[in-house]
Amino acid sequence: MTEWWRDAVFYEVYVRSFCDSDGEGVGDLRGITQRLDYLRALGVDAVWLTPFYPSPGADHGYDVSDYVDVDPLFGTLGDFDELVREAHARGLRVIADLVPNHTSKEHPWFAGDRSRYVTAPATNGVPNNWPSNWGGSAWTLDEERGHYYLHLFAPEQPDLDWHNPQVREDFRAILRFWLDRGVDGFRIDVAHGLVKDRTLADEPEPFPAVRFSSDWRTAIDQPEVHDVYRDWRRLADSYDGDRVLVGEVVFSDQRRVAPYLRPDELQLAFNFSLVFQPWEAEAMRRSINESLAALPVVTWVLENHDVTRIATRFGAREARAAALLLLALPGPVFLYQGQELGLDEVDLPAELRQDPIFHRTNGERTGRDGCRVPVPWTRTLQENAWLPQPPTWSGLSVEAQTGDDASTLELYRRALARRPGGAFAWRDAPRGVLAFDRDELVCVVNVDGEPLPVVGVVLASEELDGVLPAGAAAWLVRP
Ligand code: NOJ
Repeated sequence: MTEWWRDAVFYEVYVRSFCDSDGEGVGDLRGITQRLDYLRALGVDAVWLTPFYPSPGADHGYDVSDYVDVDPLFGTLGDFDELVREAHARGLRVIADLVPNHTSKEHPWFAGDRSRYVTAPATNGVPNNWPSNWGGSAWTLDEERGHYYLHLFAPEQPDLDWHNPQVREDFRAILRFWLDRGVDGFRIDVAHGLVKDRTLADEPEPFPAVRFSSDWRTAIDQPEVHDVYRDWRRLADSYDGDRVLVGEVVFSDQRRVAPYLRPDELQLAFNFSLVFQPWEAEAMRRSINESLAALPVVTWVLENHDVTRIATRFGAREARAAALLLLALPGPVFLYQGQELGLDEVDLPAELRQDPIFHRTNGERTGRDGCRVPVPWTRTLQENAWLPQPPTWSGLSVEAQTGDDASTLELYRRALARRPGGAFAWRDAPRGVLAFDRDELVCVVNVDGEPLPVVGVVLASEELDGVLPAGAAAWLVRP
């Protein structure tokens, strides 16, 4: 039997911002359980939950202080069990987010002897030139301990030392804990970063000004990291039910992702290459071709909790066309909550921004709060949401869009219900247009071309009059 994840649509729930069941302004696990029927009706197969573990919240959960519990802000282990039970009862899988690269500074391991962390004696000054991904040095001096500790992200997120067998043992137990509770797999944060060059050699300078720090860092993506995934894969495979490991392996060149997907390692990795393409046909075609050529299973992603929403990146009409592109491509797709509503990036004032990226770069990088504003469920917006919903979101709310055939939500529902299978093959198309076959459908996206006559429309990103304008897409009956 084919593994369920090969063709699945995963829906990312950013727990803080999905659904608030107790009205204190922050989403929680019970809120997610209450919305499982919504997710089922939407037509997704699996839910990825961002970290819900106890955390001081320096990076909203990506700084874990206890890997085997639930933060009281989000509920209890009992709530988690109920969520998994209710999801499974509806045929939905649940994957949890594992954060193995770093812990929170508040984790008891960090209060202990620090042998689980990457540290270097303070005697010779800052150990090397490694920068933090979020500005400043990746090293912070702990005067009391007489050492520097490493943090590729914020100083509140010290990096674990994966050369230490104890760390490997600890994580095996953590994986087992959640697998025993019924999770269908894990999304692995910074999966390519766990093992650092143990010589702590300087990175070659100057650091290139590219988007992906991982592309040029030589200290990560070390060969030993693959042993970790072989080990985890054996563990996951010892459970029934096709548990899946999805790596966040952040390289712009997907050929560097491929080794993580060897048959005895991770089953899936996010393919971020489309995330960083402009709305240009040739750039998108190249990205799709490169991904298909490089990877054994290609996942498709346009949004997540770290990047600007497509309604803002591409435009509102284009974002709807992008949905038809995404859902016609072959292989697993990852949707981010609110993408199905066409939510745009929210331009928040500085005093409301919470992302450490904003603060560590003194506002030079605006950070990710704009895509993390809580989902609007009802026309009446939530007054105390932890980030304020703009008034325009009343009309984008689930309540407002449900049953409105012209809405983005109903477009996603229809597309998810009709998602094509079968082989992928490009068709000849005019400049600016992407067209390809799947089973019984042809997907045509007029990205930036001339208006194109179309017939046999099954589904379109907007109302068409026999012609597909630039910024629109359609699924057509295959002639
Ligand atoms: C990637 C996560 O998606 C992001 O939100 C987080 O800040 C970093 N990893 C560090 O954990």
